[in-house]
Amino acid sequence: MSHHELDLDFNRSSNPEMRAIIARRNVLKGGAGLAALSFFGGLAGCNGDGVGDPTPDLVSSAGGGVAPPRATTLSFNPVAKSVADAIRLPAGYYATVLYRLGDPIAAGVPTFRNDGTDSAASYAQRAGDHHDAIQYFGLGSDGRFSYNATDRALLVMNHEAITPAYLHPKGPTIVNGVRTVADEVLRELYVHGVSVIEINKVNGNWIYKQDSSFNRRLHTLTPMTISGPAAGSRYMVTKESPSGTSIRGTVNNCAHGYTPWGTYLACEENWAGYFRRTTATDNPRRSAKELASFGRYGVAGAGRELWATVTPDTADNLYGRWNAEVRGTSTDGSDDYRNGPNTYGWNVEIDPFAPASTPKKRTAMGRFAHEGAWPAKPVAGKPIVYYMGCDSRNEYIYKYVSTAVWDPADATRGLAAGDKYLDNGKLYAAVFSEDGTGRWVELTFNVGNVTSANATYSFADQADVLINARLAADAAGATKMDRPEWGAVDPFSGAVYMTLTNSNATSRTLASTNASNPRHYNDARTTGTAQRGNANGHIIRWLESEPSASTFRWDVYLFGARATADAQNVNLSGLTAENDFSSPDGAWFGSNGIFWIQTDDGAYTDVTNCMLLAALPGSVGDGAARTVTNTDAAGATKTVQTFVGAAPGTAKLKRFLVGPQQAEITGITESPDGKALFVNIQHPGEDMPVADIVDPTRFTSHWPDGGLARPRSATIVIQRDDGGVVGV
Ligand code: FEO
Ligand code: CA
Ligand code: CA
Ligand code: CA
Repeated sequence: MSHHELDLDFNRSSNPEMRAIIARRNVLKGGAGLAALSFFGGLAGCNGDGVGDPTPDLVSSAGGGVAPPRATTLSFNPVAKSVADAIRLPAGYYATVLYRLGDPIAAGVPTFRNDGTDSAASYAQRAGDHHDAIQYFGLGSDGRFSYNATDRALLVMNHEAITPAYLHPKGPTIVNGVRTVADEVLRELYVHGVSVIEINKVNGNWIYKQDSSFNRRLHTLTPMTISGPAAGSRYMVTKESPSGTSIRGTVNNCAHGYTPWGTYLACEENWAGYFRRTTATDNPRRSAKELASFGRYGVAGAGRELWATVTPDTADNLYGRWNAEVRGTSTDGSDDYRNGPNTYGWNVEIDPFAPASTPKKRTAMGRFAHEGAWPAKPVAGKPIVYYMGCDSRNEYIYKYVSTAVWDPADATRGLAAGDKYLDNGKLYAAVFSEDGTGRWVELTFNVGNVTSANATYSFADQADVLINARLAADAAGATKMDRPEWGAVDPFSGAVYMTLTNSNATSRTLASTNASNPRHYNDARTTGTAQRGNANGHIIRWLESEPSASTFRWDVYLFGARATADAQNVNLSGLTAENDFSSPDGAWFGSNGIFWIQTDDGAYTDVTNCMLLAALPGSVGDGAARTVTNTDAAGATKTVQTFVGAAPGTAKLKRFLVGPQQAEITGITESPDGKALFVNIQHPGEDMPVADIVDPTRFTSHWPDGGLARPRSATIVIQRDDGGVVGV
């Protein structure tokens, strides 16, 4: 639903459409009779005194530890859809707020005032905004990664973007298209990025340790190394790094990845929009290839938050580096930031256990609107494999296969292991065929059509291919998908699930429907205008003989829909009132095989806020071929055959949580004993008109602090009243 999610369609290729528990137990209680406990007041100080000792979902997904047996039942009663400004949970569960926008992560940093007056500089040591992906890394008593630490961990999470209205006294100050208050922009530069926080379980509840030496914020000013095949190439030359080997910052980190060696991947998604590039003046200074690249990635316009407009700029171009125009006189870009966009769009590897380490942008994994990067289970002697999605309409699904084969002895080597496995490998894009099979097409210079002779874009070398991975995937004939969001690998079967959050009638036309993106219909809202296309999204899945295989079989595990929608052509998975949903985004397997689905929805919002569902999925091919008849606004029809997984029914798919108003539910991880789920609540109240910031009674959410407070993105911890494993 976020108007800040720039889910644009830049694909013109002709490819076939193929909180510190601040007050103890600020409880968000489950059960209908307790639904009014939506707010908590008095969330004051938030320093946890660190104590403790537990593991990541790396237990099952990335090796180490012992995974629990596969869950066979979902024991909770489903939660009803809700439009309340509250967290709704099943009876027998409660949530506490662990870590909110602005919470201090170093000793001496003042409590967050949350009225827009907290100093800009202090944000370098506060929780960022728009909490997104999140990962639990068990912290051993030796200060190192421990697979089985269930009471002490480093929690790493992304802060994707911002709701500018709530960050400043009266929203952002903009005069004639220019940001006139530099401090406001500096604040925004800090609240993007990543948090690393130490958390501890104390007396049964989780708190974060404000003064932990592991706590770290990475943001748009943090130095980063550019690593892999595109590092040091001419495309990466900037004023701050004429050698093309480093750049400050990461931005728009959406979902994530993790490695078997205990590091985190922050994935740069809608980075392109942050750059300012005035096409009227800059286009004449650019080569045809540069223009093709900008066009394919959407680098054009005023710049999403207008950061580049601040004057005077600083000596180190704190603001001006977001201007991607040719402004200097050099021929190589070493005196401006004309190549700045090439330094974003990567997976950024961060070692949470080494707070002084410099993160690395892993260029071998390609440059696109990275949603996230999900590893296949590592097997000794086999390559390390990551599945990735590019989140824009009509973009592709990718796979990275390392050249080096996994050596479990590397599990303690941190970023050095990253150098070995993530700087050298092959990138592929997915082709989903009409018969339920698929294949991976290689994106390597001089393989297939990825050559200098390619008519659309003449590739020069492998750095060019990786920087322009979208163009390479066009050339290789990959299948345009309905916005790939999160992926997840079933820890038992190895099947890969990926959400395709939705598309519209312009990008998924009637004519372009196909087996893997089979729907074009009218999602009948009870209020407002019709939404056509694939408004509710679906979840595709595939199975390979092994992760490095070049082929696969696929089906659609689940179609989002209103329970009331046409069962033949829209509600293909037979959803009911207990489990209907729209726009799947976050997706994650618990170590016990429960598949968790999170929504980021703008379609079903006439009926419900965004939600979290729990599922027990079957297997690829457990359903049947189905024929779908699509109908467009003019009444034209097209029939498509697709492959639909077995309908889950209410026993195997249940709504577990509904969030507060105008919030996306995104990011989920667990303690290794399965007794705590950490879930992020992103941008409550984000649709408020900026002008309404002057009147707290007009805020469109007050979650989580309640009263008339400004809303805050936050991490919540969900536990069972009886202390048991969540979900089963
Ligand atoms: Fe940032 Fe793809 O959602
Ligand atoms: Ca969002
Ligand atoms: Ca997302
Ligand atoms: Ca999204």
